[in-house]
Amino acid sequence: MTKTALITGASSGIGRGIAHKFGKEGWEVTLIARRIENLESVAKEVEEAGGKAHIFATDLTKEGNPESAIDFGMEKMGQIGTLVNNAGMGRFEMVPDIKDESFQEQFQLNVWACMATVRSAVPHFKKNKGGQIINIGSIVGYLGISKGSIYSSTKWALRGLNESWREELYPDNIKVCYVGPGFVLTEFNGRKEGGTPEEQEWAMVPGDVAHAVYCVATQGPNSDIKEISIQVLDRS
Ligand SMILES: NC(=O)c1ccc[n+]([C@@H]2O[C@H](COP(=O)([O-])OP(=O)(O)OC[C@H]3O[C@@H](n4cnc5c(N)ncnc54)[C@H](OP(=O)(O)O)[C@@H]3O)[C@@H](O)[C@H]2O)c1
Repeated sequence: MTKTALITGASSGIGRGIAHKFGKEGWEVTLIARRIENLESVAKEVEEAGGKAHIFATDLTKEGNPESAIDFGMEKMGQIGTLVNNAGMGRFEMVPDIKDESFQEQFQLNVWACMATVRSAVPHFKKNKGGQIINIGSIVGYLGISKGSIYSSTKWALRGLNESWREELYPDNIKVCYVGPGFVLTEFNGRKEGGTPEEQEWAMVPGDVAHAVYCVATQGPNSDIKEISIQVLDRS
């Protein structure tokens, strides 16, 4: 498989960490998100680390944009060896306060956009006789959380897609993996990027998730990692 990857949500946090790791390992990457200035600086980091980067600024919740992102990656890299569906968002509301818009925007990005990139990438994977899809889920794709019912259910839905795609696509040598992290220090849901000093004592950093993603992307030809869930060490 070529050392080429398309990473969504690469303008900050976990996606930025994944881009950096692939860059350090000399991969060519296509970085997708809305904030172009952030994408430019992540691309610079990737190139400084030894990789090659292309950027495409787009809103993945809008019809046609996930397909354009895949087309762009194919045009720039000639092939997409690994697709990392990382872009995601969460809104945390008690049941009586759940807004229809927040339900829709979470499902649109965390589920629909992942389906749309995969739908568009699979014909290319088939033509190339294989590929790797990595869906960034969450530890809450395995359990429920107070105030996070919608976010949690998007990650369960993504795991359902992951399981089904695995069964459908393995005959074409297309591997599909769900990576579900616990708390990572990012700007997710309006958090302070880098975390508070107290959070830094126990939470993970984007590089911890990037480590798992890179492991999946570089597994051997007869291996097919189904899922990796990553908990923080201190669960007290
Ligand atoms: N941090 C955690 O504790 C944690 C734990 C488990 C799972 N996760 C998952 O990890 C993934 C990355 O989150 P993160 O923690 O790194 O948070 P983050 O820093 O907020 O990253 C989210 C990424 O998604 C992109 N994005 C958001 N809306 C988008 C849209 N409409 N179109 C295109 N891109 C969009 C953002 O870029 P733009 O704003 O530039 O578009 C950003 O690059 C998400 O799927 C999240 O659910 C996070």
